Amino acid sequence: QKSNLAPTPPMGFMTWNYFGDNITEQDVKSIADAMLEEGLVELGYDYIFIDDGWQGGRDNKNNIIPDPEKFPSGIKALADYLHERGMKLGIYSDAAQLTCAGYTASLGFEEQDAKTFAEWEVDYLKYDYCFAPTDRETAEKRYIKMADALKATDRDIVFAVCEWGQREPWLWAEEAGGQLWRTTYDIRDKWKADAPEGADLHEESIGYGILDILEINAELDEYAGPGGWNDPDMLVVGLHGKSGPSKDQGGTGATNTEYQSQMSLWSLMAAPLMISNDVRNMDDATRAILTNKDILAIDQDPLGKQAKRVINENGWQVFVKPLADGTYAVGILNADEKKRRFKSKLSDLGIDGKYQLFDVWNKETHKKTNKLNFKVKSHETLVFKLTN
Ligand code: GLA
Repeated sequence: QKSNLAPTPPMGFMTWNYFGDNITEQDVKSIADAMLEEGLVELGYDYIFIDDGWQGGRDNKNNIIPDPEKFPSGIKALADYLHERGMKLGIYSDAAQLTCAGYTASLGFEEQDAKTFAEWEVDYLKYDYCFAPTDRETAEKRYIKMADALKATDRDIVFAVCEWGQREPWLWAEEAGGQLWRTTYDIRDKWKADAPEGADLHEESIGYGILDILEINAELDEYAGPGGWNDPDMLVVGLHGKSGPSKDQGGTGATNTEYQSQMSLWSLMAAPLMISNDVRNMDDATRAILTNKDILAIDQDPLGKQAKRVINENGWQVFVKPLADGTYAVGILNADEKKRRFKSKLSDLGIDGKYQLFDVWNKETHKKTNKLNFKVKSHETLVFKLTN
């Protein structure tokens, strides 16, 4: 019997957005060191995840091996390095012959690769779906195959389904053995796709920004819960345009207000929180966003509810997340281009009674009330923790 693998949404660092496939063991170690020094590991960001680009083919026994130049000490040594320091290791593969970036993948070698990952003491596998048949049945089969192979090892390995929400994985991925499933194509380092009015936001080529991903993920609240999470992709907080994979789709950066909104909205949606900026060189604004304990507590709340979007009109989006202590977190996003005042009764959001409102970003407590009445900057998300 294995333990509950993801009682709250996994948190950590993913290499993809900053490094792309140009990733080495030295990079991973220096990122891990920075995660520790910045206190991020202590705050719960404990998975250090190596995305695509680590692979070096197979040896003469068909065992998957790391690229000997990028990872000369091997993956097990890296796992030891992380485990000794209180972190966990994530790794990446794909349910076809090749990964999205064209490296060796796991189709036909599921059991052998799962055994290898377990021997390396890997703690998390993100399993991608490039170069695989598009129908749902095949996808389910391929994910079940790898999930079963992981279960057959004696190691607890979180299984992250990554087929970009194309076959409604929220309906089957948990049953298939996944603890989280991507709900959209890749996020880019920007607020919003510059798509023409009425464009199909399910087209990958559009290059999703924060707001586009939100539009899809916000509707899926009923599918998330302890052990099975909607995954709206990595935090782009602090990238400031320094993302290789992002650039080709207009990911040239967002403002700190917009990054703070992503952190707020992802936490309200109980999303996995995977940092992807260069944490070795963070500015103060980025640090403040990523290390806010009050927003992290909302993401990691043990009740494990994804916020419901209760208002979505006139550029206002209001989210209500029930919490384990019987109260709520409320988020107000002003998606408009100018600063505006938001007014509402709590009862109009489905919340009865009066509460104190603790503003988690401005660290102010507003006295007991049954109303919201706040100015919100353009693209800002205010978040309140309610207390009796
Ligand atoms: C896909 C995934 C990304 C990343 C790349 C790696 O695009 O959605 O998150 O893993 O592949 O090639």
